Amino acid sequence: MSISNWVQKSLEQGSWIRRMFEEGVALKQQYGEENVFDLTLGNPIMDPPAEFYQELRKLVENPEPGMHRYMENAGYAQTRAAVAAQLSLESGINFTKDDIVMTCGAAGASNVVLKTILNPGDEVIIFAPYFAEFINYIENHGGVVKILPTDEQFVPNLDILETAINTKTRAVLINSPNNPSGAVYGDSFLSQLGEVLTRKENEYGKQICLINDAPYQKIVYDGIECPQIWPYYQHSIVVTSHSKDLALPGERIGYIAIHPGFDRRQEMVDGFIHCNRILGFVNAPALMQRVVRCLQTVTINIAEYQRKRDFLYDHLTEMGYSMIKPPGTIYMFPKSPMADDVTFVNELQQWRVLTVPGSGFGSPGYFRISFAVEDWTLEGSLAGFRKVAQKLGL
Ligand SMILES: Cc1ncc(COP(=O)(O)O)c(C=O)c1O
Repeated sequence: MSISNWVQKSLEQGSWIRRMFEEGVALKQQYGEENVFDLTLGNPIMDPPAEFYQELRKLVENPEPGMHRYMENAGYAQTRAAVAAQLSLESGINFTKDDIVMTCGAAGASNVVLKTILNPGDEVIIFAPYFAEFINYIENHGGVVKILPTDEQFVPNLDILETAINTKTRAVLINSPNNPSGAVYGDSFLSQLGEVLTRKENEYGKQICLINDAPYQKIVYDGIECPQIWPYYQHSIVVTSHSKDLALPGERIGYIAIHPGFDRRQEMVDGFIHCNRILGFVNAPALMQRVVRCLQTVTINIAEYQRKRDFLYDHLTEMGYSMIKPPGTIYMFPKSPMADDVTFVNELQQWRVLTVPGSGFGSPGYFRISFAVEDWTLEGSLAGFRKVAQKLGL
């Protein structure tokens, strides 16, 4: 055997999203790109905003000596200061550059944080439906995944959380706005979550980290703002990126922010910086750090995603599909009209509409749609959705 048992197991379990994506590639070869309606991947359809190209052009036209060299593993001080200034404005809490570590995306940030905090056997609690990579990230660093349910609105049940926390619990990993459900956790929920965690910390005399994976923080609709975790819990960490809000997923630029009031904060930050290095990221991409430094107040046109969400939501609900209108992200998570979500997704696939079964996110009975696609894809998918709805008598 050439690969490790863990990697073999992980490969076998695979990712539903990848599996559906590969099915899509095969269907596109067979029927032509324009006849396959692929709603599987959360890959932003929009290009980055004009300001991104302006900053990039400035850098290319005025190169600074040394701008491609190694740097501090935490990232450029000026970039971290710009991120901290924006976070302070948004949260009313005083962040400094020393609370920020620049990373290779939110995925890099999660891995750095988990590597820093986990001892073998430590438990990390996540909530279904979850971003499936969380399981890999936790297991990458010897952690044990504990999955808890959410309610009909996809909000975690805090009574269940309270009884699930034990002496081995090291962290609770949330993701708001949520992939795949689109749920945005409100202030009152976050406040109660903070109370539960504080109570449990006191009961067990140990620190429990609350990590919010928040790359969709700014992708929210109907004029709402996504509440931040900072006011509600001192041992908070945010892992995030500009993959979605600036449409830069291929550029791998993100950061970790830690609550300024975190106990032994400096030790934790030193750990992050060290792990950024030893996991082989070394530092976040230099050019991107320089660009996003100037773009902290800029986002892609969120109204465009809202228009796509509304279009699809209106049509699908009119056909009889049942779902919560997602207040954030680029996903919807309707109920599967068939008891078995995999069978339902296969049924849709017969009409060349590709979605992902909820089972891939730990929530059978649902399916995920990404609406970050071209309008022709959304429009073209409707016929397939309608055929299946009619067949099932919705
Ligand atoms: C919930 C969630 N977390 C993390 C990531 C990874 O983001 P990044 O590209 O910043 O690594 C994604 C990407 O789709 C995501 O949906």
